[in-house]
Amino acid sequence: MTGLKALFVLLCILLTFLTYTPIPENIEEPWKIMALNAFGKSFILMGLLIECTGFMKLEDLLSMVIMLDYTEPLSDEYVMVTDTTFNDIPVRLYLPKRKSESLRRAVIYFHGGAFCFGSFKQSPYDSLNRWTANRLDAVVMTADYRLAPQYHFPVQLEDAISAVKYFLQDEVLRKYGVDPHRICIAGDSSGGTLTAAITQVMQNYPELKQKIKLQALLYPALQAIDSHLPSHLENEHGILLTRDIAVRFTSLYFTKNKTLTQLMERNQHMPLESKHLFKFVNWSILLPEKFRRNHVYTEPILGLFNFSVPGLMDSRALPLLANDLLLQNLPPAYILTCQYDLLRDDGLMYVTRLRNAGVKVAHDHIENGIHGALSLMTAPFYVSQGFKVRDKYIAWLDKNL
Ligand SMILES: *[C@@H]1O[C@H](CO)[C@@H](O)[C@H](O)[C@H]1NC(C)=O
Ligand SMILES: *[C@@H]1O[C@H](CO)[C@@H](O)[C@H](O)[C@H]1NC(C)=O
Ligand SMILES: *[C@@H]1O[C@H](CO)[C@@H](O)[C@H](O)[C@H]1NC(C)=O
Repeated sequence: MTGLKALFVLLCILLTFLTYTPIPENIEEPWKIMALNAFGKSFILMGLLIECTGFMKLEDLLSMVIMLDYTEPLSDEYVMVTDTTFNDIPVRLYLPKRKSESLRRAVIYFHGGAFCFGSFKQSPYDSLNRWTANRLDAVVMTADYRLAPQYHFPVQLEDAISAVKYFLQDEVLRKYGVDPHRICIAGDSSGGTLTAAITQVMQNYPELKQKIKLQALLYPALQAIDSHLPSHLENEHGILLTRDIAVRFTSLYFTKNKTLTQLMERNQHMPLESKHLFKFVNWSILLPEKFRRNHVYTEPILGLFNFSVPGLMDSRALPLLANDLLLQNLPPAYILTCQYDLLRDDGLMYVTRLRNAGVKVAHDHIENGIHGALSLMTAPFYVSQGFKVRDKYIAWLDKNL
C-alpha cells in the first residue's frame, strides 16, 4: 500500500514537472496560479491516462471531482436558501431575509462548466449567488440544466429557458417579491453562452422580453465556427484551459462523434453552407486593433469533410452567429473578458457586434485575467482574481439593475 502511495506521489511530481509552464509576468499571485496550473494539467493528463485504460472517461472523472464540492442549500443570517424545481428543472433560490418596503431586484444566474460539468451547487457559485443576494438585497434564482455528453444541444438551452419562463410568470415574481422591471440574466463561461442565447430567444416572447432588463456575460463562449482566433492561438497552452480541452468539450456539446473534435482542432469542421456566417466572427474586422496584434487573417477552408452538425450553424448554440437584426433590440449588456483566456475574442467580438447594432454595452477587460477565475474564489484556492471579477460584476449590477 505504502509503495502504491509513494508511486502515486512520484507520478504526481513527475507530471507536475512535465506540465510546468511559465506564466505571464503580470499575473497576480504567480506562485499560486503556477501551482494551480501545473496541478490542473497533471490532473487532466492523469485523467487521459486513465481514459486510455478504458476504465473511465475524462468527463466522468472531472464530474466526480466537481461533485465533491457541491453544497447543501444552507440559509444564513441574511439570506434564506432553498432548492426546488421550476418546470422540473432543479433551481436554488436566495431570498434576502431583511424586511423590504418595495419589490426587489432579481438576478437569474447560469453556472459554467463547458456544458459538461457542474451545478449551482458548487461552492463558488453558492458563494457568488449568496453574495449577490446579500449585497444587492436582490432575489437570486439559479438553475441547473442537463449536461453533455449524455445530452447535447439544444437540451441545455431548453432546460434553462424552461426555468426562466417559469420564474418570469407574474404570480411567481409576486410570490418572491420581485420587481418585474428589474431583472438581469447572468452567467459565466458556458453559462454566459446560455445567457446570451436566452436573451436572444426571448425576443420572440414579447411579454417575457420586457422583463429582462439586463444581461451579464462573464468570460462567455459565443462561437465555435472559427477555432483559429488570436486568443485561441495565444492561449493554445493557456492557464488551466488549453485549446485541446476546450475543443474537446465544445464538440461534446454538439455530438459524441470524435470526428468533430479532430476537425475542429484543425479548423476544418464547417460545411460550405456556413460561408455566410463567417462575417459574424471575422476577427480582422471585429477585434480592436490592440488584440489583433500581428496575427494574419486567413479565410476558412470549408466543406473539406461535409460533416453535418446542424447546431454549429445555430445562433441559439453560438450567439455570435445572430444577425444584426436580432441583436438590435437586445437589453443592455455587461461583458467581462480576460486577457489570458482562449474565449477572450468571443467576448470582445460580441462587444463590437452589440455596439454596432446600437445596444448599450459596459465592457470590463481584466488585463492579467485567466479563464474561470470566479470558480477559484473559494477554499482552498482563494484566488484574488476571482474576487476582482465578482466585485466588478456586482458593482455594475448595483448601478444598473
Ligand atoms: C462520425 O462522423 C463521420 C463523418 O460523418 C462518420 O463517417 C462516422 O461514421 C461517424 N462515427 C460515428 C461513431 O458515428
Ligand atoms: C474578413 O475581413 C477581411 C478584411 O479584414 C476580408 O478581406 C475578408 O474577406 C473577410 N472575410 C469574411 C469571411 O468575412
Ligand atoms: C462537400 O460538399 C460540396 C457540395 O456541397 C462538394 O462540392 C464537395 O466535394 C464535398 N466535399 C467532400 C469531401 O465530400
